[in-house]
Parts: sequence; structure tokens; C-alpha cells
Amino acid sequence: MEKVIKKIICANWKMNPLTLKEAEKLVNDIAKNITTIKKTEIAVCPPFLYLEKLRKISKKIIIGAQDAFPGDVGAFTGEVSAEMLYLLGTKYVILGHSERRALGETNDDVNKKIKASIASGLYPILCVGERTRDESHDYFNLIKTQLEVCLSGISKNSTAKIIVAYEPIWAISTTPDRRDATADDSREMAVFIRKNLFDKFGKDATQIRVLYGGSVNEKTAGDFLENGGVDGLLVGQASLDAKKFSTIIKTCEALNK
Ligand code: PGA
Repeated sequence: MEKVIKKIICANWKMNPLTLKEAEKLVNDIAKNITTIKKTEIAVCPPFLYLEKLRKISKKIIIGAQDAFPGDVGAFTGEVSAEMLYLLGTKYVILGHSERRALGETNDDVNKKIKASIASGLYPILCVGERTRDESHDYFNLIKTQLEVCLSGISKNSTAKIIVAYEPIWAISTTPDRRDATADDSREMAVFIRKNLFDKFGKDATQIRVLYGGSVNEKTAGDFLENGGVDGLLVGQASLDAKKFSTIIKTCEALNK
């Protein structure tokens, strides 16, 4: 029997909201709206310091982090290790987000973090995406390299733990002069990503969920889910609004029937 891949709607809160109180209210409000959801996996990735409290609010809302340090306990001022996150009850960890890459994170750094996260029991959400698109279609090579280096040394046995999120930087809500990506853009890249994953992992690659992220909102989610060739969405800005985020989750659930 073919294994059914569960769709996932994942919130990337980035460095929001300002207080724990607001964070708790947001998760409580989402939890109230999703009591009938059965087929869609729901994850929220808040800042580190809210993880412990938020994880206890709803069994339906899985908690993820936005980064993880690839080292054991020790002299790493300011860092939080993958193992600490796992022991706290965190499941997912967003790695290689373009906003972290903009701070200097390289594909090699992301590779170390993915390895440490898997070893600790976390499920990495690897973000890939190009800053711009050019007519020579060079951005395909960039995505290929991101996948190759970030997933280097990862074994086939770990594929069920990995998610790849395609996030074109030019479509992210906070990018200056941003423009909308279409479901076609998403599908084209999802196919390319899946091909590269298949070349590396063979049929085990089918266990890797591919997501789209970049200004998804309650109006566009359905189109990306239906026509974007993806297994879910990574949602930034719209995930900070309980009503919008819940609508995105319900849209996914309705399409899964
Ligand atoms: P956005 O963010 O939905 O606000 O564009 C997505 C992301 O950066 O993960």
C-alpha cells in the first residue's frame, strides 16, 4: 500500500510577537479554530523563549524552532543546541532560512545543523530559495547546490524526517520590491526539487515533503496547495493572524477530502 503523505501547514513567526502573552493568545486562538482538523498537520515555529509554554497548549499544534546549534552542551555563548530543543518537546526546526543566510549562514553551516538536528531527534525543515531570477535560469543551479551541500552525508534512512521548503526570496512578504510567485512557479521548482532528491535518495525521496513559502495568505493558499505541486505551506506574516492562519489550515483540510 502506498504511504499517504500528510499535508503540513507550518507557521514561521520569525521574531514575533513581542510578548509571551501575545504568543499564548495566538496559539489559543488558533487552537479554538481547528478542533475539527484531522488530516492536516499543524506546526508553529515561535522564537525559542516561547517554545516551552506554547508546546503545552494544544496536542494538535506541533512546535518547531527557527534554528539549532550543531554542538553539545559547552562554551557556545548565546546558542541553543538541537538536543536542548528536542528535550524540551520541540519536533521541527526551520534551518537555512534566507533571513539566517543573510546573516552569514552558509550551506555548510546548514548541513552541520541538519545533521545535528537529525541526530538529536528533530525534524529539519530545510529552506532553499533564490534571491532573484535571471533569463539564463541560473537559479536552478543555485537550488541544486543548496540541496546538494545542505543534504550532503544525510542517509536514506533519514528521509522521512526531512522537509524541504522552497521559499523564493523575491516573493517573501518583507523583501523590498517583492513580487508575487504563482502556483506555476511553485510547481516548476517543486518538480525540480523532487527530481534532485530522487537522484540522491532514490525512491526514499518520496517521503520528503516539499513545501512552498513566500507571502502565502488565506486567499492564495488554496491555489498553491492545489496547483503548486507541494505537500504544504510555510507561512510567515499571515501566520501571525489567528483567523488568517486558521483559514489556511481549513483550506488545506478541505482539499484533502
Ligand atoms: P512570508 O514569510 O509568508 O511573510 O512571506 C515566509 C517565510 O519567510 O518563511
